[in-house]
Parts: sequence; C-alpha cells; structure tokens
Amino acid sequence: DGGLEKSANCTSDYGEKKLPQAIIIGVKKGGTRALLEALRVHPDVRAVGNEPHFFDRNYEKGLEWYSELDLQVGDLALSGFSGCAYTLCSALMDALHRRYKHRGRAERRWRVNAPGYQSTLPKQRDEHSSVLHKRGEVYRTKGHGMLCDLSKQINSRWDLMPSTLEGQITMEKTPSYFVTNSAPKRIHTMAKDIKLIIVVRNPVTRAISDYTQTLSKRPEIPTFEVLAFKNRTLGLIDASWSALRIGIYALHLENWLQYFPLSQMHFVSGERLITDPAGEMTKVQDFLGLKRIVTDKHFYFNKTKGFPCLKKPEDSSTPRCLGKSKGRTHPKIEPDVIRRLHKFYKPFNNMFYQMTGQNFQWEM
Ligand code: A3P
Repeated sequence: DGGLEKSANCTSDYGEKKLPQAIIIGVKKGGTRALLEALRVHPDVRAVGNEPHFFDRNYEKGLEWYSELDLQVGDLALSGFSGCAYTLCSALMDALHRRYKHRGRAERRWRVNAPGYQSTLPKQRDEHSSVLHKRGEVYRTKGHGMLCDLSKQINSRWDLMPSTLEGQITMEKTPSYFVTNSAPKRIHTMAKDIKLIIVVRNPVTRAISDYTQTLSKRPEIPTFEVLAFKNRTLGLIDASWSALRIGIYALHLENWLQYFPLSQMHFVSGERLITDPAGEMTKVQDFLGLKRIVTDKHFYFNKTKGFPCLKKPEDSSTPRCLGKSKGRTHPKIEPDVIRRLHKFYKPFNNMFYQMTGQNFQWEM
C-alpha cells in the first residue's frame, strides 16, 4: 500500500484532525484490506487508505503526525491502486485540487508520498499538469485524458465522503500491530477506549498466503516446505519463521489482553468475510456502533476474481474488486506438511477459541 502525507504547512488550521476510534490491528493476510474497503462504503467511516504503521515504525513521529493522517481525504485514491505510479499521483493531485477548489482551499499545497515519487499540487486552478519528480528527474504530464478512468473511480469514492465530519468514525488498518509487542501499550496510552478489530484466518492458509506474497516479491526464496521446518525428518516446525509465528494467535492476543478487555475487541472470520461478507459486516457495524448500512446489497460475487466485490453503490461508482495482490493463487504445498502444520496449530487454535469465546473451525 502506498503512502500519502499532508505537507506540514497545510495542517495548522485544519479542523479535521482526529485520532482513530477504531483500528484494524491484524492479522496480516487475514482479509484486512477487504474489510477496510467494505467499511469505507459506510458514510460514517473515514479511513486512512494506506497502512500508517504508526505504532510500530513511526511512533517517534508523535501523535500530531498520526492525527494528521486522518486527512486523508485523499488517501482513498491510494488504496487498491498501488502500483499505478505516476498515473495515480497525477490523478490524485487532480482530485485533491478539485476537492479543495470546491471548498475554497485551492491554494493549499499537498504532497503525495508514494514509493519513489513526489508531486506537488499545482497552484493554478486551471493548470492540469502536475510536475512529478523521480530520482531527480522531472516529469510533466499534460491533461488527464488517459487518467480518466482512474480519476472517475477516485471521484466516485470521493463523493461517498460526506461533507460533515460529525459522528464519523476515523479508522486505520496496520496488520503488523497485532504481532508488535509494544503496540498494545502504545495504543492504550493514546486511547483506552479504542475499539480493536482483528481479522483472523486459518493460520495454515494464512501462512501460505503470507509466503505467496513474499514469493511474489522475492522469487528466489526457498520453498515453503523448506522454510517451515527446522528439521523436516524430525517434523520440527520452525515457529520463529514469521509466516508461522503470526498465526499463533493466542500468543499475540495474550499481549493485548494485558491492556484491553475482550469487549473492546472484535474478531472477524477471514473465511466468512469471503463466503458471507454481508454477515460479517453486520457484526462489525454493530460492534462499531454504526447503522447497518453496508449489507448484501453492496456485494456481488465476481466469478473472474473468485471473490466478493463491491457493487456499484447508489451513486455513479463502478463495481470494484480488490487488486491483483489480493486473492492470489497459492503454490501447492505438500499435504503432509499441511497436516503437520494443522497439528502444530491445533493447541494454539483451541486456546484462541477459549480466549475469544468463538470457535473459528479451523480444524480439518
Ligand atoms: P490471498 O491473496 O492469499 O487469497 P490482507 O488484505 O489482510 O492482506 O488479506 C489478503 C487476503 O484477503 C487474500 O489472501 C484473500 O484471501 C482475502 N480476501 C478476503 N476477502 C477478499 C475479497 N473480497 N477480495 C480479495 N481477497 C479477499
């Protein structure tokens, strides 16, 4: 996921700063993006589109930095569009420009930080070109004809954003928080009454999904089977491998329970989020104290994607599936390895069911 940051000089008199009242803290590969995107359909949810990693990597930047992420007015453009590079930046700039022109803030300057590039909102209202810098080079894009599709998507999302902010919930998702030892304490220091959402998925599938993601970035890594064992002949699992460690949910949850009561946590079944997204959304909305606005009317099953996607909402938005990096094909893992992993996780899963009072039925 890319990153967007409001430049320091345009935040001072901005009435939208808000710390999150709810955070999706995990788990990586659980279905966190699908959940956040579905929640963003709700008019009373404002969510940061990228992963701010505040409580793990950016904590020293301070709460001021974190609260300014709310901003993100524009951040919506980034989510699900990562990899769109210049097109994205440029379209985003245009969208921001229009938004703030409308609100009499055309003079404000914005900075977009997405991997490797930077762009500044043109000062001139009618200047449709953005100057994009990359590795010292300057690129100029004229007009936004080819960006039309993207801009349209951005704008339709944009229009979902209500103009008043009263009563809205600000949210973010950073799945690594769940496994970050210092995160519970830090979040508790910020807001004791915060609501925490954790999307959990069969830890074996989750591990394979995690591995698939790494493999897509680093094709040279050893096979899953090799990484999973300390000693394959002895059947000794390498529980320190992060792909496996993350799935020991009971262990991580223990940390959170030192600071937060279970009543402030909500567990979403990653499996049901795929088979019955509307059902899971009802529970999430209830937990957040939101009206049940996101319902089965908002989802359809896309056969090509093989997953539920967001339907065209009442306004002009087009149907939307998550990007290519969500719902990947997994490599085939040897069945005895799968069996061994299920055995490994079984006691931890049972402990997790007991701790949460929910049976996620991950046993084969
Ligand atoms: P796979 O790519 O392994 O199938 P996260 O967003 O936390 O990284 O989770 C990614 C996972 O979300 C995907 O893992 C996929 O199984 C799951 N998912 C849940 N609902 C989805 C949806 N509507 N579209 C695509 N993926 C979805």
